[in-house]
This record gives sequence, structure tokens and C-alpha cells, in this order.
Amino acid sequence: MSAAADERAGGRGRVRPAVPRALITLAPVDLVVVGSGVAGLTAVLEARSLGLSTLVVTKGDLPDGSTHWAQGGIAVVLDQAGTGDTVEAHVCDTIVAGAGLCDEDAVRAILADGPDAVRRLRRRGALFDPGTEGGLARTREGGHSAFRVIHAGGDATGEEVERVLVESARADQTAILPHHTAVGVCRDELGVTGVELLDDGGARVVVPASAVLLATGGLGGLYAATTNPPVATGDGLALALRAGARLADVEFVQFHPTALWTGRRDGQRPLVTEAVRGEGGVLVDHTGARVMAGVHPLADMAPRDVVATAITRRLADTGADHVWLDATGLDDFAARFPTVYASCLAVGVDPARDPIPVTPAAHYLCGGIAVDLDGRTDVPGLYAAGEVARTGLHGANRLASNSLLEGLVTGTRAAHTIARERRTAAAPVVADTPAVRQLVDRKALQRLASTRLALGRDAAGLDEVDALLDAAAPVAVTTPGLASGAALGLVARALSSAARTRSETRGCHVRTDAPATREAWRRSVPVELADPADDTSLRTPTPTGACP
Ligand code: SIN
Repeated sequence: MSAAADERAGGRGRVRPAVPRALITLAPVDLVVVGSGVAGLTAVLEARSLGLSTLVVTKGDLPDGSTHWAQGGIAVVLDQAGTGDTVEAHVCDTIVAGAGLCDEDAVRAILADGPDAVRRLRRRGALFDPGTEGGLARTREGGHSAFRVIHAGGDATGEEVERVLVESARADQTAILPHHTAVGVCRDELGVTGVELLDDGGARVVVPASAVLLATGGLGGLYAATTNPPVATGDGLALALRAGARLADVEFVQFHPTALWTGRRDGQRPLVTEAVRGEGGVLVDHTGARVMAGVHPLADMAPRDVVATAITRRLADTGADHVWLDATGLDDFAARFPTVYASCLAVGVDPARDPIPVTPAAHYLCGGIAVDLDGRTDVPGLYAAGEVARTGLHGANRLASNSLLEGLVTGTRAAHTIARERRTAAAPVVADTPAVRQLVDRKALQRLASTRLALGRDAAGLDEVDALLDAAAPVAVTTPGLASGAALGLVARALSSAARTRSETRGCHVRTDAPATREAWRRSVPVELADPADDTSLRTPTPTGACP
């Protein structure tokens, strides 16, 4: 059984070995990258060009992660003169969407590096869709004041990005270890010494390394309905916490407003890219009334948290299980949005004739492992980039299509930092037996998270989440599925704790029992483990000068 199938079986898909398997130690490298999406592969390619020895570890096969599934595109201002758009306007839109919590220095630095990052990707062979008047085609998504989102294959941008990076890695003979799940970052008092893995058969493997970059993506697997692939189980967040690093802003889980309603309340939901609204699609309810009329000046193009919240309210008010995205007026839908078109046809909807049934679904983690602009965490030798990292770009709500860009830019920056700070690491010390972690019933957790940790939280709901987590049983982590199940439990604890601490509503964190946005809360909520060996010791330390 593959790790992905084991994920679907909630980690119960394989027989646990009665006796711990022997430990296999691989050759040491300068850098282990955990994850094979845009941030991880960009980082490894850069690191190799800077002379580092590297290994990429990925728990499935190469295109299994979220990057491959990204549709809309890459938000970037490539040509200020030709378009009337400016990087400063992109900065402003990002900060407005981030609802007061963006780190402005990070926003400026990452968006200013964007054009070069995209040019490098094009030099590697990425093919973006051409526009009608020369240059690249540009679309618009929620929260953007200009048409600045470049795309590939219509709505298959992530697939093109992943293709180019995987081909570059192969051409460069980058060592990649598929079907290995990272279960622990090894460290001593001076910092990182390596990483511990489990292969799909349950064998324990150790890779000595002086630096580890976590690029494991998001946590959609915490929810019953998500646009994320099954491998998105928050592994990197759990690895970082247990290594002694802090998380920040993890209460901000972005729900995409328009995931295809497939008739099932749970499971993976195909995305219907926001670009469909950018090019004229409108949200209507079952009476034909516009969902976004009068809600926000940008109507259907409002920031994502605003649209997802408006749909959720309309569903609650009408008792319907979905709203409709009417794109019947768009020209040649099948050619412009081939991925969405195929997903719709698979559920019997022809978007050229029929409105598309959609609901919000868990999509993106705006916070993550607290890092500086160079990807450094609190632990020497431990770095993070991409969705798993919190750089301050997204604040309380990510601007659409800023994430592929962030992965390209921060993957590059982290690689350069790691090369500059190359450390001599000690040999990793690993316990004789697999770690024992709290394991929660995954289906029960997903059901509860989907109501209590979704759009609309209150103290009573968070109590229910905590009660389920407190009932978790200690289990020796002997399979990849058990490892990601335990990671999800810890991540749920972190999210619940941060959501409880933030007693206000801001961006994609909606507290129904604290509906106002409070100026005093314009700051991050950090999360850490008081005892890195004990997942139940999670706490949200109150920063100095903090609010009530
Ligand atoms: C979309 O295409 O709507 C998703 C893009 C993103 O999440 O940034």
C-alpha cells in the first residue's frame, strides 16, 4: 500500500511490526529538503547550483503535492511600463487582503523578487499562455486591482511549474527519495543534525544533514472537504514544533470560495479557479440572486475570505448545500479552463450551458512555521519555505495566486542562506524505538474540524475539538499513516489553541462569539511546545505588551 493510500485509510492500512525495524543510516548531505513542490524543488536546484550536496525526501511520488494542482496562476508584475500595473499596486492589494497582519517588509521583498523568479523559471523552460497583443496573457482573481496573474495551459499553471522543476531536477541528477515520510528532525543543543524517515514499508531511515528545509505544504487533510491532495497533512508543522520551532498565524486557514460541489459532503473537491470569476463568472443562489451584490465594492472579485464568508452565510440562510457559479456567458470555456471543464463534465455539468455548483472548501494555510525572510526558523539549521512557512506575506488572508510566487522566491532565498550558513553537523542520535505520539480518530477529527475549525468558530466549538484531542490514545509511530495522523492531531491542537487565543474576527479567522476586528489584536499568535517530546504540552505564549 502506498503512503497516499495509507493516508486515505487513516493510517490503519498496514500491519504494524511487532518489533521495531533496524535503523538504516544513509550518507550525510549538506541539505535535506522535505517536500517536492514549488518551494522544495526550487530550493534544491538553487542549493545544488551553489555546490551543496542535497537529498529531496517526498512521501508520495513526485507530482503528488499541491503545486501540481494549482490552477489560477502566478501573480506577478512583469512589465510595469506596458501594463499600467505596478509592483506597489500588487503590494497594496496583498496588504489589504491580509487584513492588517501582513509583514510589510516581507510583502515588499517577496513581491519585488517575483519578476526575477518568474524569469528564472521561464529560462528553465516554463511555458506561460501568450496574450493576444504580445507578451503573456494575464487574468484577474479576487482582491487584485489589475489583470496580473499569468497562467499556463489555461488553468493548469501548477502542473507546468511542477513539470519544469521536476524535469530540471532530473536533468541535474538531483537525488530524490520518494515514498519516504519524515517523522522527526534530529538535533542536538547546537541545532539540526539530520532527519528521521519511515519508508512505506515501515523501515526507519536516518539521513545525517547539517540543514533541513521543510517544504511540506499545507493541512487540507485536517478537513472533510478540501481542495488539497491527500498528502497535505500538516507534517512539516508537526516536525517543526517537535524540533523546538515556533508556529505563527495558524488560525488563518483560507477556504476557497468555489470548490466544485460533487454531491458529497466530504473528500477532495476539484477547484474551480477564481479566474472564472475574474473573466466574468458570477455567484448566484438557487433563486438566481447575486451572492456578492452589496457585500463588497469588488463584488465577485472581493478578497477570498469575504467571498467564502458570504457564501457560507447564504448557505446557512437558505438551507441550500451549494450556490452556483454562472459562467455560461464566457467564451470558449473548455479551451480557457480545460481542467475545470473536465472536472465539471465528470459530475455531469457542462459549464458552457449550466451554472457550476460550488461551495467553499479548505484550501490554504496562511500562517505556518515562523521564519524570517531567509527561511530561518528558531532552530539553527532548520529552514522552511512555501505554504508550510509563515513569512508574513499573507497575513490573515492570502491574496490569490501569491503562493506559487512565494514558493519560487523563498525557496531561492532559503537555498542561498543555507549555502552561506553551511554548518558542520554532528552525527544524528536517534532513539532505539519509534516515537510514541497521540493518535486521534482521523474521520472524527475531520468532521469536527469542518464545522468547528472552519469559517465560523466559537469557544464552545473549540472546547469540542480539544475534548476529542484530549481523548487521543498514545501510539508508537510505525507507519507513514500513523505519522501523518499524529501530525494532524498536533496541528489541530495548534489551530484550536491559536483560534481560541485570537478572540476577534480577522481575515479568514471568523469568531462568531467575537465578531469585531480589534486593533489590539493586530499581531501574531505564536504556538510552541513547552516540551518538544510531548504533543499535549502545546501553548500559545503571550507576547509582551499583549492584549487581553
Ligand atoms: C485559484 O485558481 O482560484 C486558486 C489560486 C490560489 O489559490 O492562489
